[in-house]
Formats: sequence, C-alpha cells, structure tokens
Amino acid sequence: MPNRLGVLDTARCAAVVLAPLLAQGVIRRRNRVVRLAQRLDLDRRAAAVLRQLRTRHGDGPLRLAVPGRSIALVLSADGVERVLTGSPEPFALATTEKVAALRHFQPHGVLISGGREREARRHYNERVLDTGAELHHHIAGAVAAVVRDEVSTVDGPVLDWPAFAAMFDRIARRVVLGAAARDDERLTAELNRLRNAANWAYLRPRPEHLRARFQRRVDAYVARAEPGSLAGAMAANPAAPGVDPAGQVPHWLFAFDAAGISAFRTLALLGSDPARQATAARDQGPVYPYIRACVQDTVRLWPTTLVVLRESTVDTRWPGGTLPAGTELILPSSYFHRDGEHADDFAPETWLHGEAMRSWSVFPFSAGPGVCPGRNVVLLTTSTLIAALLDRFGPLRTAAPLRSPLPRTLDHSGQRIGLPPVTGTIAPEM
Ligand code: HEM
Repeated sequence: MPNRLGVLDTARCAAVVLAPLLAQGVIRRRNRVVRLAQRLDLDRRAAAVLRQLRTRHGDGPLRLAVPGRSIALVLSADGVERVLTGSPEPFALATTEKVAALRHFQPHGVLISGGREREARRHYNERVLDTGAELHHHIAGAVAAVVRDEVSTVDGPVLDWPAFAAMFDRIARRVVLGAAARDDERLTAELNRLRNAANWAYLRPRPEHLRARFQRRVDAYVARAEPGSLAGAMAANPAAPGVDPAGQVPHWLFAFDAAGISAFRTLALLGSDPARQATAARDQGPVYPYIRACVQDTVRLWPTTLVVLRESTVDTRWPGGTLPAGTELILPSSYFHRDGEHADDFAPETWLHGEAMRSWSVFPFSAGPGVCPGRNVVLLTTSTLIAALLDRFGPLRTAAPLRSPLPRTLDHSGQRIGLPPVTGTIAPEM
C-alpha cells in the first residue's frame, strides 16, 4: 500500500494545501481571495508542507486519510510522467470532482467525457483548435487582425485589470465566435454566473435554465460560422456522431479567461524588466518565439490550473503497493513548478532552450495525450497581443515592479501597467 498519511497530516494538508486552492476558486477566480492568498503567502506555506511530507514519507503517491474516498498526492516527476502519459486510461481526466464542477456549464465538454465519446470529442477539439500547429494556421491572420484592432482601442496612461479584461473578453468572443459576438457582454456575464456556480461543484444545484439560455446564444453564433473565427473552423470540420460541436465551445470561452490573466501577468513581468522587455519588443512575428517563452514562463510561475486531477479506472501498482480503482490523484502544479532551479525567477530563456519543456515537473498546459489542445491558440493570441501593445506604446512600466523572488501567488487584478503616450516617449507618472 503506498504511504498513507495519518489523520493529523491529512488535516494539515487539507487546511494548508487544499482549502486555499478551493477558496481561490478553481473554475472562476475570486479576486479578493487571491489578493489575500498573496498577502498571506499561502502558496509558499502549502509548498513547505508538501516538501515536508515528501521528506518524511517518500515520493508517493501519498494517500490521504479520507473516509469513503481514496485520494492520493503525486509528489515526484516520475509519478507525474506516469499519470499524464497514462491518461485517459488508466488515469481518467473526467474525475468525479471535475464532472461535478464543469457540468454546470459544459456537460458535453471533452474534459468530462469518457470512452468512445471522449475520443471523438478530443479528436474534434484537436482539429478545430489545430493543436499541433505552432502557428494556428486556420485563423492566424484573422487573430492578428482582431488583436491589433482591439489594441487600437486601448487608452493610457494606465492599463489596469478591468480595462484589460474587458478588451481581452472582446478578443476572446471575436476569436471564438466571430465579430458578431464582439459586444455580447451578456454572453460573458452568463458564463461567469455559471462558472461561479461551478466553483461549488456538487454543493450547488445546476442552474439548468441559465445554462440552456447561455448555450442557445452560443449555438446562434456557431450557426453563423463566421470565417476567421473558431466557429468558422468548426463549419469546415465535420464532427463524428456524439461529439456535440457547439457543446465544446463553453470550455473554449471559459479557458480564454486563463489566457487573459496570463497575458496580463506577462505584461506586469515585462513592465518590471526593461532588458527582457527590449528583447520582447524586437521579437519577430508571426510566431514571436521570445514572447511565447515569456507567456510559458508566466504560466509556470502562476499556473492557472492549480492542480491537475486524474481518477484511476483500475487498481494501479506503485513502488510502495497498490492504489485501488477510483483513486483521485492530485498533481499540485504550483508545488512542482517552483521546486526547480529558477523557482522564483522569471526565466523565459529556459523555454527557448527547451529545458523547461522537457521536464515532467513543469506542466502548465498538462502533457501527454490530455495536453491542452488550445495551447497554441493561447500562445498565438497572447503573444500577438503583447507584441501589439509593445509596438503601439513602446516601453511599458509596471506601477509596483515585480522582483525576484517573485511571489508564489500573484493577484493579477491588482497589477497596473503604465503606458507611455503614443506620440511621446515620456513614461507617465503613477
Ligand atoms: C493560459 C491558458 C490556458 C492554460 C494554462 C490551459 C491549461 C490546460 C490544462 C492544464 C489542461 C488539462 C486539464 C486537466 O487535465 O484537468 C487543459 C485542458 C484543456 N484545454 Fe486548456 N488551457 C488554457 C487555455 C485554453 C484555451 C484558450 C482553450 C480553447 C480555445 C483550451 C482548451 C482546452 C481543452 C478543450 C481541454 C481539455 C482537453 C482534454 O480533455 O483532453 N485551453 N488546459
């Protein structure tokens, strides 16, 4: 039997590691709690507890003493590799907890599907999102045009989170659904209400009426199939029976939120680091390799999927013994990502040289057969956006610069980026 934690260690783990994650909002961040988590440095405390447990009990998986449910922490890179390469069988992506949360707004999403249905949905997501292509070729030109158009609406002297988020929501609606959805703030507001409910998983009834209304709005845009949007790419990719193409879209809209948060954090990092910002400003499109590396290191520093979860479908053997079928395996990304050499530094260069990509301890987009199929759409959209902002405004300056060691939690909503006047070179006073 893999090492089992006692009741006290389990309680410490629940209070210091798991409760703060849940409180920050797994499906939709609660910005006030994130701010508090940063102030109290909760992620550093959580990592310290996990390090201690690993020292005392070994590499794991470590089973928690939870009555009626088998839950285990995976704390070694070998364990991560085994679980991620072994997904979806024998380590299913559709865990009990994930299904309970995500069914609030995407009951047919690939992430909570199983068996044949999952296979067909995954295949469809990969085709429409053009998963393998670094430069998302179906819609790359259209994305660049959308981003430049939205950046032309940005006003100085300061870019704060509400202004950035409103712009990014417009970009997300245009990229996913087309220009007709640009100003449909109600669509985003409805999705946000559903995501708030999803944060509570099975503790809240599913708001079926709202979900059906939201999905009808999505369906109408999908039916328009605007060229240059993902909805347009859907029309060009016939789906196998059982896929429910429009049922995949809520996940894409939801996940674009993580892309916006990450892009804004990258801007805050670059606005604190003139040398790297100058390198980013010289980066060459349409791929922008350096800016992509900056975004990748940002999601390493502050992963938007705080824990990656899997559920074993059969008994699995580990060095210390067997874990029963139905065990929930927790892979705490934030612990792994800050355990290496550049733990608390901004280190985009490690992505350019490929070290970070080869390590099983760094998995901001997951890895293996369940890797995020939207990864390249994210990197395309965010790198083009950052390049366009640098191009339009010149040197950006973060109001309260971020310095090493970087905080383990970053309240993105509290960042403010100074934008120089478009016609001049003098940085604004803040
Ligand atoms: C910074 C932005 C993003 C990050 C860090 C990210 C990360 C991830 C991670 C870690 C997973 C695995 C989740 C799990 O195993 O439970 C995942 C799954 C997924 N992501 Fe992303 N994602 C991002 C944005 C996007 C976007 C914009 C899209 C679509 C346009 C997308 C589409 C998906 C889909 C469909 C899955 C489910 C894959 C499956 O079940 O096989 N993601 N993403």
